[in-house]
Amino acid sequence: MEIRRAESDRDLTGYAQVWNSITPSEPITVAETKRRLARQPWRLYLVAEEAGRIVGSGFAGRTDSAERAFLAVRVLPEWRRRGIGVALYEVCRPHAVELGAAMISGRIAEHDSDSLQWAANLGFAEVGRDVELVRELGDEMPAAPLEGIEIKELTAADHNAIYRIAVACWPDMATPEPMPAPPYDDWAYEELRGPVVFGAFDGERLVGYAALVTRPARPDVLEHGFTARSQPPRPRDRHRTEADAARLGGRARLPRARHLHAGGEQADAGDQREARLPGAACVDSGASRRVNCRRL
Ligand SMILES: CC(C)(COP(=O)(O)OP(=O)(O)OC[C@H]1O[C@@H](n2cnc3c(N)ncnc32)[C@H](O)[C@@H]1OP(=O)(O)O)[C@@H](O)C(=O)NCCC(=O)NCCS
Repeated sequence: MEIRRAESDRDLTGYAQVWNSITPSEPITVAETKRRLARQPWRLYLVAEEAGRIVGSGFAGRTDSAERAFLAVRVLPEWRRRGIGVALYEVCRPHAVELGAAMISGRIAEHDSDSLQWAANLGFAEVGRDVELVRELGDEMPAAPLEGIEIKELTAADHNAIYRIAVACWPDMATPEPMPAPPYDDWAYEELRGPVVFGAFDGERLVGYAALVTRPARPDVLEHGFTARSQPPRPRDRHRTEADAARLGGRARLPRARHLHAGGEQADAGDQREARLPGAACVDSGASRRVNCRRL
């Protein structure tokens, strides 16, 4: 078995194939992976090759938190329990240390007890759970207007003002450690690459924003990106529903939601939970556990 950095087209293709077969709800493309690597050379992409076939992948890179690195190890099911996952992790771990991280975290599907055990054996402990919500778009009701607030599409001229709101609100995300907003260029690359950004205006003042973000490997899916509001709700807003809060962009710790076009199918890993609510357009497409390792 050989473990090496994925840099060639063949290796990056193998990396994407392993990733997509194990994480179909968050597919990646080779082109996008190359772009990310070119922008952020500190990203470590690894492949494990056995008998001429890429059977495992590893990733280590920075997160918005300086003290925490991100880890993603994947091994095709028929190649598991042979030490490949640990071997990939053992290359990722020193890379995370080199990046200055004091801990490393990853995500594991909620019902994947083997992978949870694997992580526990390596000293990881659960620090949180994420639930992704999917909404299939159909006949959408027009939004009820909010008194004193106007929602408008934003342009490039507003980007600095949006970023100021992101910087103010990013630390409010429910993360185990402090998480400042990323630098402007990284933020803009991730958050402004969708078709539209909406702003909430109180008079002339931009007080909140929400963006739809594209996923290169899933053109039929738009992700509801970070939603932020720069000031506390007014008293008259307090009775409003969560849907209103989402639309207005409360600094609410709302889970990221993905929006599917009508008829779009959400591909789900077999080990992920899918609960279709009768008569409702919201789908809980899977929960994952965030695990952190404090052994770096
Ligand atoms: C988690 C994951 C990467 C583990 O991959 P893996 O290649 O099976 O991991 P390893 O083989 O290195 O795991 C070592 C285990 O195999 C056992 N093992 C190693 N060599 C072995 C061999 N020759 N025969 C039998 N067992 C062996 C070890 O004893 C160890 O078992 P233990 O966990 O019960 O102690 C894989 O299950 C996976 O892709 N899961 C989905 C993605 C995920 O959740 N990743 C983790 C979060 S980043």
